[in-house]
This record gives sequence, structure tokens and C-alpha cells, in this order.
Amino acid sequence: MNRFKVSIEKKVSRSYEVYIGQDILDRAVLIIAKGNWAKKYFLITDTNVSALHGPRVMDIFKKMGLSVEEIALPAGERAKTMTTAVALAEELLHRGADRTSGLIALGGGVVGDLTGFVASIFMRGIHCIHIPTTLLAQVDSSIGGKTGVDLPAAKNMLGTFHQPKAVFTDLSFLRTLPGEEFKNGLAEIMKCAIIDDPALLEILEAKAAVLKPDGDLDVLMPIVARTCEIKKKIVEIDEQEHGLRRILNFGHTLGHAIEAEAGYAIPHGEAVSIGMAAALSLSERLGHLPAADRDRSIGLLQKAGLPIRMPEVMSSDGVLARMGRDKKKEGNILHFVLLKRPGMPFVNGGVSESTIREIMERL
Ligand SMILES: NC(=O)c1ccc[n+]([C@@H]2O[C@H](COP(=O)([O-])OP(=O)(O)OC[C@H]3O[C@@H](n4cnc5c(N)ncnc54)[C@H](O)[C@@H]3O)[C@@H](O)[C@H]2O)c1
Ligand SMILES: [Zn+2]
Repeated sequence: MNRFKVSIEKKVSRSYEVYIGQDILDRAVLIIAKGNWAKKYFLITDTNVSALHGPRVMDIFKKMGLSVEEIALPAGERAKTMTTAVALAEELLHRGADRTSGLIALGGGVVGDLTGFVASIFMRGIHCIHIPTTLLAQVDSSIGGKTGVDLPAAKNMLGTFHQPKAVFTDLSFLRTLPGEEFKNGLAEIMKCAIIDDPALLEILEAKAAVLKPDGDLDVLMPIVARTCEIKKKIVEIDEQEHGLRRILNFGHTLGHAIEAEAGYAIPHGEAVSIGMAAALSLSERLGHLPAADRDRSIGLLQKAGLPIRMPEVMSSDGVLARMGRDKKKEGNILHFVLLKRPGMPFVNGGVSESTIREIMERL
């Protein structure tokens, strides 16, 4: 089992361990029991994960002598709302939760964001532990303490920063993950490799074809661990996204706009992949990135089976208009994360609309 510590603001009270391994649940629950973080735990999950893994996880907690109850929320992004958060808080109260209770998020990013959000505001804040079960949640959303729910007008509009007490990433959960969901995580892994780690980029180039939910977890393990460490390093320096953390938005400015324009019918990972291909082309077009580096990174996305072009039916006008509404926009400046070389991103604030349109239409 790999482990490393995330230290926010270098304060011991806000540091937590991220444990990564295969079949680590017994040890995870032992650590939770020893941590003595709460008198009673509520395992928050969604109906899909509950059906696949709920009873087994509950058994491990009970065998360890911990007091635990399961609450299964509806699955999917559409449940990531204030209504679900309020219903969860009311259910917790109804079941006797108090300031000494702790929440455990067992699921993907939706469960993690919702559980973290409710943990951050329930009785002014209780502890939360993450057991991420999608690849995206394992390499991305479980680390860094961002929580939130969506508003009808835009995703993640209401949220808090609430760092967990611990994160337990068990790759064995990926065995039941549908291939499309796996690809969402793969896109975030590719993103981290492109913006931060040329060595990881090389590993991915060699292994892209075998990275699948039923593939060799021993191959995936160091890739997940490395990606988590990249995210950890970035959020330690900039927890609240005032500067450096923005580089994690590589591919996301356009990606979010594509997702919204498609009415969320395009998976996040695919939209971000198209956004990354555009950011790479834009970096090359503006003279920052050598063409060979652009081609290499775009080639990697393709090797992983990720798309690099917008669907033909999608209008660039619609996507451009949505990009203008991105909440990461400051004033009238659109922040684009671009690249000088693999591992050397920077935030560029002055890209003209016509250049973006040209890149989108030429992809
Ligand atoms: N907090 C952050 O820093 C952060 C970062 C990135 C993304 N996010 C958020 O994460 C969310 C996306 O997360 P996601 O992609 O994990 O989606 P998700 O939580 O909706 O999970 C995807 C689907 O997979 C199912 N599932 C989960 N684990 C499974 C397993 N092991 N086997 C079979 N099915 C399983 C779920 O029930 C769901 O249907 C978005 O809401 C996004 O905003 C947050
Ligand atoms: Zn993303």
C-alpha cells in the first residue's frame, strides 16, 4: 500500500494521508478505527455503488466494531443538487447524527462532492473520509478538499473547501467500473502527465492501450499514485485556486463549454480531451509549443481512445458563448491554460475569440 501526506498550509491539523493500493479495505477500516475520528459513521454512497459494493464495505466496518449506517443517494450528476444535500442532512439528523459523527464518501466524484459539502456544513462541520470508487475520483476529486453541488444554470456553483481526514484509494473498485467512466479518469491522468510530468507521459505512451477496468491493476497502480501526487503537490501550494491550482484546468475552459453545449450528453473526459487538443493546438499556433510536442500529446489522447475533435453538429458560436460564461472567468479576460513544453504550463489571459474559433474549427 502506497501512502503520502497532503499538508494544507503546512498545518498539522489540516494534513491527511492518502492511501493507495489493491484490496486495502480491511487495512483502511483498521486505520479509521484507530483514528478515532468519530463516534458513529455514516457511509454515504449512491444506489449503483451500494448495489455492487455496499454490503461488503458495511461488513468490514461492522467486523471492526465500528458503529456505521449506510445512506444511498440517487446516482449521477443530476443528483448533485442542493435538494439532495438538504435531504441527506435531514436524513442524518433523523438517524441521530451529531457533531461527533463522521461521514464516509464511498463512490465517484458526485458522492464525494456531495458528502464533502454536507460534512462541511452539517452542524458547522463534521469529519469526512473518502473512499473513491471511480478512476476520476481516485486521481482527482478525492484529493484537494473541493466540495459542491450544481445549480440548474451551471455546475459546482455552490461549494466549500473541506479537507478530508483521510483518503483510501482501492483500485479493486475499478473492476466493476464501466469503460466509459474509466475513460473520464484517464483523461485527467493524461492532463496531469501533460502539464506536469514528462516521465509519466512516457509511461502512458507505452501503456495506453492496456489501461482498462479489466486491465492489469499492477500497471495502473504507479500511474494512479503518480497522478495523485501531482494533484497533491498542486493543492498543497494553492488550496483555494488563487494561482497554481488553475493549471489543473488545462483543457477544461473549452471542455466545460463543450459539455454544456452538448447538454451534458458528452462525457466529461471526452470534452476535456477535446479541450486539451485545442489548448495544445492553441499553444502551438501562438508560438509557445513546438509542433512535435503538440502532436505527441494529441497522439497520446488518441491512443487512449479519447476524442480530439468537437462533434460536427456542434456550433463553435454556441461553445464560444458558453466559454464567456465560465465561472473561472475574471472580468472580461478568459484564462486559458497553455503549454510551453510537456510539464511547463502557464496561464494565458489574452487569447482573441477569432483565434479560438479558428483552432476549434480546424481541430
Ligand atoms: N472536488 C473536485 O476537486 C472535483 C474534481 C473533478 C471532478 N469533480 C466532480 O466529480 C463528478 C464526476 O465524478 P465521477 O466521474 O466519479 O462521476 P459519478 O460519481 O457520477 O460516477 C460515475 C458513475 O459510476 C458509478 N460508479 C461509481 N463507482 C463505481 C464502481 N466502482 N463500479 C461501477 N460503477 C461505479 C456511479 O454510480 C455513477 O453512475 C462531477 O460532479 C465533478 O464536478 C470534483
Ligand atoms: Zn476534469
